[in-house]
Amino acid sequence: MKGVILAGGLGTRLFPLTKITNKHLLPVYDRPMIYYPIQTLVKAGIDDIMIVTGGRKSGDFLSLLGNGKDFGLKHLNYTYQEGEGGIAEALGLAEHWAKGDSVCVILGDNIIEKNIKKAADDFKAQKKGAKIMLKEVPDPERFGVATVAGGKVTRIVEKPQNPQSNFAVIGIYMYDGRVWDIIKTLKPSDRGELEITDVNNWYLADGSMTYEILDGWWTDAGTFKSLHHSATLVAQGGANN
Ligand code: DAU
Repeated sequence: MKGVILAGGLGTRLFPLTKITNKHLLPVYDRPMIYYPIQTLVKAGIDDIMIVTGGRKSGDFLSLLGNGKDFGLKHLNYTYQEGEGGIAEALGLAEHWAKGDSVCVILGDNIIEKNIKKAADDFKAQKKGAKIMLKEVPDPERFGVATVAGGKVTRIVEKPQNPQSNFAVIGIYMYDGRVWDIIKTLKPSDRGELEITDVNNWYLADGSMTYEILDGWWTDAGTFKSLHHSATLVAQGGANN
């Protein structure tokens, strides 16, 4: 399984911090934000990784990360997203490299306390379909929200006004090799983006989606509040343990 880290977008919710640099290069406690998702993949045993970047200062990723030596990697792959066409659009840019393989996708601003090794191993054994990871949160309306019944996810709604559960769909997704064709069928949402929730709902309708509840804390770092919160969480006990 290959790993794709999505670090494009313009990070407008963090203006003016992101006026001259890419959100994923901002510090979260003692290191740049992008370090955390790389570590998440490496700790899950995934060492063939592509970073999709974009926007301002995308060249700085190369200066910062090089070939990934700090993470024990021999090589890192990079590609560039023009504009902010959505998470699914950014993922689609990795198709030429992944060549029909399955992928573990992680959003560049998602940080976790523990690791996803078991989920990644379970997905490899699953062979077909998709796996998403859920976490109970106090503010589900900020996220994709999953309804779970009878041990299965029955519905996922992107940022619902009236969430039907507290289960946020966190920004770590595993897909089989069909994902590349699914992305090509997507239409932009009301916010003008190709939504990852639409990809997830395709697998839901296909009956081939599984889920796991994430162990330990999870946070995004895409707003002032969550950026501050993530630094506090990391300072208190570290991430990717
Ligand atoms: O954090 C988890 C949530 O992430 C999920 O629960 C939602 O279902 C999912 O849509 C997403 O929501 P956000 O609105 O918080 O995503 P955001 O636009 O902040 O993008 C998250 C990351 O995805 C960002 O750090 C970089 C990458 N991205 C995003 C966009 C829109 C790209 O690489 N390219 C893009 O065009």
